[in-house]
Amino acid sequence: MRGTSDIDDVERIASGIDGWLSEIEGRRLYELARHVDPATCIVEIGSWQGKSTVWLAAGARAGLGASVVAIDPHEASALHADGESTEQALRRNLELAGVTEGVEVVVATSEEAVVAWKRPIGLLWIDGDHSYESVRRDFLLWEGHLVERGVVALHDTVDWDGPREVVSRYLKGSSRYLGLAYADTITHATRRSRPTAGELLRKRLSIVERSLYEARVRAYDENRFHFADVLDIVNRRGRRRRRGSSSRLPEDD
Ligand SMILES: C[S@@+](CC[C@H](N)C(=O)[O-])C[C@H]1O[C@@H](n2cnc3c(N)ncnc32)[C@H](O)[C@@H]1O
Repeated sequence: MRGTSDIDDVERIASGIDGWLSEIEGRRLYELARHVDPATCIVEIGSWQGKSTVWLAAGARAGLGASVVAIDPHEASALHADGESTEQALRRNLELAGVTEGVEVVVATSEEAVVAWKRPIGLLWIDGDHSYESVRRDFLLWEGHLVERGVVALHDTVDWDGPREVVSRYLKGSSRYLGLAYADTITHATRRSRPTAGELLRKRLSIVERSLYEARVRAYDENRFHFADVLDIVNRRGRRRRRGSSSRLPEDD
């Protein structure tokens, strides 16, 4: 198949690949990859069978054309059955999506791959082992190669303690990262060496806003103080009221 860059084609192909990335997350990776300067590259830590790799490579292809370096040992992780390798599945999926040319597959751990690393990185995507020690190690080993205004993105930053703690300590808690943004469980931020006071203030506000959102989601999921029951009743009433009114809203159809 020829290289696909239409985002709906990418969605169709990515949805058939085994993995844990949601469509919203894939689309965000695609957008981030589109803007990466081809003088830099996109580094992925943790490819599995290539769901996120395909989104990144297709985004880069549709945008400025940066290449993707996909780093994964492809065996012996907590996710692999004994003797299983995901390398062939990754290569097959890249072929299927027509993005093989844009991806350099590196069969190694992130700690091995960083030893001889010299290239500037425009987008660093961390989705390897999720323990705090591993995520922290991946972040600290690689972030020094990020260019000014480069982006670091981490997966599973809501339900997993490891990525969440790293985001809290090294992105939220550091003045070197601004522009915190979220897509489902992805958190990403932009590296800046000299942020302005206004940018730092905006960052603080976005952290408060996200904390309130996460608290609301938790309260709903756990039905704290009957929050979910009440919200569901209010939403149902709202829908009934809109149905009776003269100007119907699209969601009522
Ligand atoms: C959650 S999966 C990645 C999912 C993938 N990004 C996707 O979209 O489907 C985690 C991957 O990290 C890899 N991994 C584990 N330890 C690693 C390390 N030290 N360096 C690089 N990759 C690692 C595993 O082999 C596994 O394939």
